[in-house]
Amino acid sequence: MTSSSPDLHAPDPTAPVLVVGATGKTGRRVAERLRSAGVPVRAASRRSGTPFDWDDPSGWPDALAGTRSAYVTYSPDLLVPAAAGALGRLAADAREAGLEQLVLLSGRNEPGAARAVEAARAAGIPVTVLEAAWFLQNVTEGDFAPMVADGVLALPVGEVPEPFVDVDDVAEVAVAALLDEAHRGRTYQVTGPRSLTFGELAAELSRTSGREVRWVELGMAEAVDGWRAAGLPEEVVQLLGTLFGELFDGRSSRPADGVQQVLGRPARDVREHLAHHAAAQSQVTCGATRV
Ligand SMILES: NC(=O)c1ccc[n+]([C@@H]2O[C@H](COP(=O)([O-])OP(=O)(O)OC[C@H]3O[C@@H](n4cnc5c(N)ncnc54)[C@H](OP(=O)(O)O)[C@@H]3O)[C@@H](O)[C@H]2O)c1
Repeated sequence: MTSSSPDLHAPDPTAPVLVVGATGKTGRRVAERLRSAGVPVRAASRRSGTPFDWDDPSGWPDALAGTRSAYVTYSPDLLVPAAAGALGRLAADAREAGLEQLVLLSGRNEPGAARAVEAARAAGIPVTVLEAAWFLQNVTEGDFAPMVADGVLALPVGEVPEPFVDVDDVAEVAVAALLDEAHRGRTYQVTGPRSLTFGELAAELSRTSGREVRWVELGMAEAVDGWRAAGLPEEVVQLLGTLFGELFDGRSSRPADGVQQVLGRPARDVREHLAHHAAAQSQVTCGATRV
């Protein structure tokens, strides 16, 4: 091939970026930011425009076809045993479809997630990995938000500090990784700028919302009973048991500088997110009062 002839295997730069988990906390934000930057997006999940089901690999090649790269969130969590097989297969399908890279969301220091990353990389396509801390949005919009809205944060975890991260930072790092080749194949630890215990997080929630959010440290058996009573699927109960019972042992307590490395600015602080969330909530309440 001469230097002037087109590389027939190079992905089309005008082709869409596939977002797997496009209705989720990070996927939704990644898709929004890409669209704002003028990048076409193919939004995929069970309920998105492009059907994608982790339990049905037969549909994956169609979702991947004609895309240039993909942002991938595995559900329910990259640490479950099924993730390695699924990620290995998706990465092989992506290489076959000619994608230039995958940007994969992971937790930090999780052996199960590391196996899934290894399986994806073994397929021979560049995989950029974002190892994120526990999301602040878990308590403001995710699974634990209803409990916090009721004035309680109750989890089976002790005085273990966590550098809680704002999902908006995760999404901005993901978009940079998708659009700038310099990040290709690298691994970034994406955390907030300082570590707090869950008790300290509850105190910050109380301070910014002006309503008490009481911290309760649960025993594991009590927590598991509560999750089952709340109707969480058994797979999610097991997942939370592993997360809080094994992985919250201090191994991930230190903040890391992935946001600074990729975005050239510090990560957002807990207070910034909580203040922003409290302001948005009060606007909703005022709006509702006026109607
Ligand atoms: N939460 C944290 O603190 C944290 C921290 C670090 C890393 N992570 C990682 O974040 C990932 C989850 O990302 P997220 O928080 O952005 O998503 P999320 O808010 O948990 O939402 C899950 C997404 O996956 C889709 N989904 C659920 N089941 C699916 C299935 N069977 N097949 C296809 N799509 C399915 C959902 O859409 P549909 O319902 O439309 O299918 C939704 O778009 C996990 O892999 C976890 O390891 C989480």
